[in-house]
Amino acid sequence: MFESLNRLPPDAIIGLIGEYQNDPRDTKVDLGIGIYRNEQGETPVLDIVKRAEQHLVESQSTKSYVGSAGQADFNEAMRDMTFAGSVSNDRVAMLQTPGGSGSLSVAAGVVLRARADATLWASGPTWANHVPLLGGAGLTMKTFEYYDHESHSLRLEAMLDSLHKIPRGDLVLLHACCHNPTGIDPDENEWRAIADVVVERELLPVVDAAYQGFAANLDADAFIIRHLAERRPEMIVCNSCSKNFGLYRDRVGALFIVTQDSAMRDIVQSQANNYVRTIYSMPPDHGAAVVALILNDDAMRADWQIELKQMRDRLRDMRVLLHEALGVSVPGRDFSHIVRANGMFSFLGISEEQVERMKKDHGVYMVGSSRINIAGITAGNVTHIAESVAAVI
Ligand code: LMR
Repeated sequence: MFESLNRLPPDAIIGLIGEYQNDPRDTKVDLGIGIYRNEQGETPVLDIVKRAEQHLVESQSTKSYVGSAGQADFNEAMRDMTFAGSVSNDRVAMLQTPGGSGSLSVAAGVVLRARADATLWASGPTWANHVPLLGGAGLTMKTFEYYDHESHSLRLEAMLDSLHKIPRGDLVLLHACCHNPTGIDPDENEWRAIADVVVERELLPVVDAAYQGFAANLDADAFIIRHLAERRPEMIVCNSCSKNFGLYRDRVGALFIVTQDSAMRDIVQSQANNYVRTIYSMPPDHGAAVVALILNDDAMRADWQIELKQMRDRLRDMRVLLHEALGVSVPGRDFSHIVRANGMFSFLGISEEQVERMKKDHGVYMVGSSRINIAGITAGNVTHIAESVAAVI
């Protein structure tokens, strides 16, 4: 049966976990996969999550099945956090999904049921798994202009220009905030200009919201979602709770498909439920139950937001720290984009060969594109990182 298969190389991001673990050097630094780390380099369970889990252990009376769409209290709380009333609830099909990847995957499946030859345009560059995941599902993937690798900034005019050329009705994949891998987001005025083209070209927005709360705050980070929800009859939002609730391995996400009216919502909801049934039947419950508990309780929600802000602030501080250290170790080279970017990621702007030497010679791990996870930086390792950059360029 399997003789025709070839062995594949490890995933560009996940593969780094093993490589890093196998490195015996105690000076090694993990700037690879996008997980939050504290100053000690750890990714602890959030205090509020521990409390909610405790409560669940004591109060949960059953582990019986949930439906294909998951639990209503989770879906409704996530919908409100995402849209904040910018679209009428009876137009939104909702699903609890296994992480953000599950959300993207179900979105692709439903879109392909509606239009088997659908084309989705993603930013150049985009998350390394967007193309394998969405293209692998069967969508035709194309690229619109986004990032200037020279100036490390948004190429707004080029982006608008390329969006203008997208055929009417195609799908366009936007990152709500904390663009992965660049960290460079449009500001509100730029988002408005982008939305104008999306509206004019009648494109179907698919917004990946994997980092809500990691750039400015929960509301500001959902700006483009709410702005487009008010202006387009249809859109798709894929949320993840991996980062903002630190629930990475529990696989918690949500999918929202906004439709033109409630009758269409019912049709799309039935298709999405049926699609889920044909692949994993229903989503895992535990992490979503934790999130539902937190979001639906004012005091717990407030405590969660304090921890979310702590993570956001630390990322901001580490950006400043790295920028300063690079200023000392690599004088004369402009790294200011690192402090202009949001969330977990930035490009260092070095070649793949230099990334390899960072790894081999200095034990500093990052994705081949030179994407670094800012959360991997600490006051204790920042000089080593900056000096390693100086040594390879
Ligand atoms: C990342 O980009 O590192 C994260 O989103 C984790 C992943 O699954 O790739």
